Amino acid sequence: MITDFPSHFFYTTEASRFLIRPVHPSDKDLLQKGFAELSERSKYLRLFEINNRLSDVQLNYFTEVDGIQHVAWGILDASGSVSIPVAIGRFVKFKEEQDMAEVAITVIDSHQGKGLGRLLFATLNLVAGKMDLKKLRHYVLSENRFALNALKKFNIISQKNEGTLTTIDIKVIPNHMAIPADPKTQTFISVMKTIEKEFGISINRIQKG
Ligand SMILES: CC(C)(COP(=O)(O)OP(=O)(O)OC[C@H]1O[C@@H](n2cnc3c(N)ncnc32)[C@H](O)[C@@H]1OP(=O)(O)O)[C@@H](O)C(=O)NCCC(=O)NCCS
Repeated sequence: MITDFPSHFFYTTEASRFLIRPVHPSDKDLLQKGFAELSERSKYLRLFEINNRLSDVQLNYFTEVDGIQHVAWGILDASGSVSIPVAIGRFVKFKEEQDMAEVAITVIDSHQGKGLGRLLFATLNLVAGKMDLKKLRHYVLSENRFALNALKKFNIISQKNEGTLTTIDIKVIPNHMAIPADPKTQTFISVMKTIEKEFGISINRIQKG
């Protein structure tokens, strides 16, 4: 059992304060609440279908995670007196290939384009790196140009375009040193550095180790 992750951490911007933490089985109501804030377009881009509500089977699948085969973290906007669920992301290891997992992220529409997807992707990469995963697979609708573009700057191992679906395998980023320095990756590197502190990741230790 992996135990050395922080139970939660905060990320603060000029306007907001976000709480980032693993998803718990008791988060079903929060998840349903967040799902209600997604546009039909976002639901379709994430789940490839449009439902009004998540089914009980989906709620169980998305929240009853073991933290080993299936890892899920969420972001709550904790700026006000009531915390609002704004993003969720997960990776699920492939049974037959334990160093690889499928990854997916969703940010509610009102909070998209503000860096939360990046924050969650960085967090999931750090967790995956600590768990010795090597590859993260993304199944993205080929029409999802924004997600495809955002993934371009990472270390892509393979990309298959099969009609409506594009499959992209990306090398896990265990720490910011694994990201090639480039103007396009600067923001991601700085977010990684911030989260590394929260995770107690020492780059020197990793390099020597
Ligand atoms: C895709 C998604 C997870 C991205 O999260 P987000 O919080 O909106 O994105 P971020 O603000 O963190 O930006 C991520 C990157 O995309 C870029 N970006 C943000 N908004 C953009 C836009 N409208 N057009 C193009 N690029 C954009 C950012 O500059 C950033 O790149 P950078 O790290 O090089 O600066 C989110 O938009 C979403 O949930 N969409 C619907 C569901 C979905 O498509 N999921 C992914 C497929 S499984």
